[in-house]
Amino acid sequence: TSARAQEAGRFAFNPIPIATDATVHVPEGYTWDILVKWGDRLFSDALDFDHETGGDARTSDRVFGENTDGMELFAVGDRQVIAVNHEYANPKINLPHTEDGKPQSAEDVRKMQNLQGVTVMEVEEGDGGWNVVVDSPLNRRITHNTAMRLAGPAAGHDLLKTDADPSGTTSLGTFNNCGAGRTPWGTYLTCEENFNGYFGSTDANFERPEDFKRYGISLESRYDYEKFDERFDISRNVNEPRRCGYIVEIDPSDPSSTPVKRTALGRFKHENAACTLARDGRVVVYMGDDERGEFLYKYVSNGAYTPGASTDGLLDDGTLFVAKFNEDGSGEWLALTAETTGMSLAEVCMFTRMAASKVGATTMDRPEWVAVNPVAVEAYCALTNNKNRAVKPNAGGDETPVNGPNPRAQNHYGQIVRWYPENDDHVDPKFKWDLFVMAGNPDVHEDAYAGSQNINSGNMFNSPDGMMFDTTGLLWIQTDGDDDNEGDFAGMGNNQMLVGDPATGRIERFMTVPYGAEVTGIAWSADKRTLFVGVQHPKAPFPDGEGMLARSAVVAVKRADNARIG
Ligand code: FEO
Ligand code: CA
Ligand code: CA
Ligand code: CA
Repeated sequence: TSARAQEAGRFAFNPIPIATDATVHVPEGYTWDILVKWGDRLFSDALDFDHETGGDARTSDRVFGENTDGMELFAVGDRQVIAVNHEYANPKINLPHTEDGKPQSAEDVRKMQNLQGVTVMEVEEGDGGWNVVVDSPLNRRITHNTAMRLAGPAAGHDLLKTDADPSGTTSLGTFNNCGAGRTPWGTYLTCEENFNGYFGSTDANFERPEDFKRYGISLESRYDYEKFDERFDISRNVNEPRRCGYIVEIDPSDPSSTPVKRTALGRFKHENAACTLARDGRVVVYMGDDERGEFLYKYVSNGAYTPGASTDGLLDDGTLFVAKFNEDGSGEWLALTAETTGMSLAEVCMFTRMAASKVGATTMDRPEWVAVNPVAVEAYCALTNNKNRAVKPNAGGDETPVNGPNPRAQNHYGQIVRWYPENDDHVDPKFKWDLFVMAGNPDVHEDAYAGSQNINSGNMFNSPDGMMFDTTGLLWIQTDGDDDNEGDFAGMGNNQMLVGDPATGRIERFMTVPYGAEVTGIAWSADKRTLFVGVQHPKAPFPDGEGMLARSAVVAVKRADNARIG
């Protein structure tokens, strides 16, 4: 633990109670304000948001997108730039003219495609608080139609080629951008999660290839894109979904740069990308696959990062590993290579789930965000919950028995596992692990479902999801759980953000969000005096009030005395 954290007191706030209302709460002595919300203009030529229409389709790629998720702040010269994901759409809210949220036209589909992806936006703090710098030359929208480059071992493979891209090296759009990460060289990593939901078939008799089943790609899409945009019709473009499910690197300092899909980091339902460096400078990226019974991964580059030197190849040439947790508190990273899997390297990168099944990895309770402690050689993964261990979500997955880091059969609450690499080096193939916390409800249960020792009536929560360390080594934990405040979840209230101390296990509640919303995405201003936090999919009429459309938003949290927060 750093001296600064000790000076400040590890918990520089009075924990707050639960809430069940329609607004945001932070501790006494802190303030919050809206930075930006869905539909706000990034460019002055965009039309103003309209609660009747959910915003004009024609300029829907010139506004802040829907369902804010993972984000990072970058200093570009003396400007501050936030890159932030727009995970998915809420068609019933975004397309209020439709009965059921089903797009009725190509224009409706185009609006959905524009409201998702990524925003890069300059922000600045003035006398009235934080604002987006409208028309900043750094502002950019990346949508489901933005040109991308495919790189790494799978690029150019026959299974990535389409009529529109016979080279298999260029694709359009990034999908279901969930968690995020940053590289040591100042680029943004956006992570494609539930990409399967964008694809469907206009031919009800289309026979899906075997690999579609493990990834949940079905004949039924979530948004009906395939009815108006042939690219999303798997009966016509069978390879298109294989071009999704990757981690995408974006340069936030160059709005004309082409985002790069890094196939070397594997294809699955990526949550986030927690990047760190080994002792010798090799790049290590930890990644969760958010699905019941799927796995936790690590990528290690072949080359080492040297500040100022070329970073070419660092995210293209390397080895993927998958975690095996042993019951005795030890664990190992199993390499996914041609030798260990019997698959080509390109196939490992395209069909990573199947590769991991071949080596005997440990099935997990939905691995969401990974966070790496900056002041200790250890990393944490939120295992959000597992509501139905007996039923496999997708064909071809492994059996999912109760096991070491996933010790509860009907796991409604989730847990956070942490591991300590051997030899204090993130490239070491071996590690020790323990559970930092098992969430639970000690008011309702007396057994393992009461949670671990560090859970009590005053700090209980369910479904940890987003996680990020601050510079002092405190872990900020965001929840995406059941907020009905009843039954198993009585006394937990709305979703929340808590702060945990790795050294003591202490966890305290810092923030609550409106009902129906999850908390996801966290970033700090350059001076660490502002904390930006995402409020995703509120059901409450937030933030514009009764009778208005609910809008996901990024809020800026400050201390009233303007001291650092982390
Ligand atoms: Fe998009 Fe796993 O959260
Ligand atoms: Ca998540
Ligand atoms: Ca979640
Ligand atoms: Ca979400």
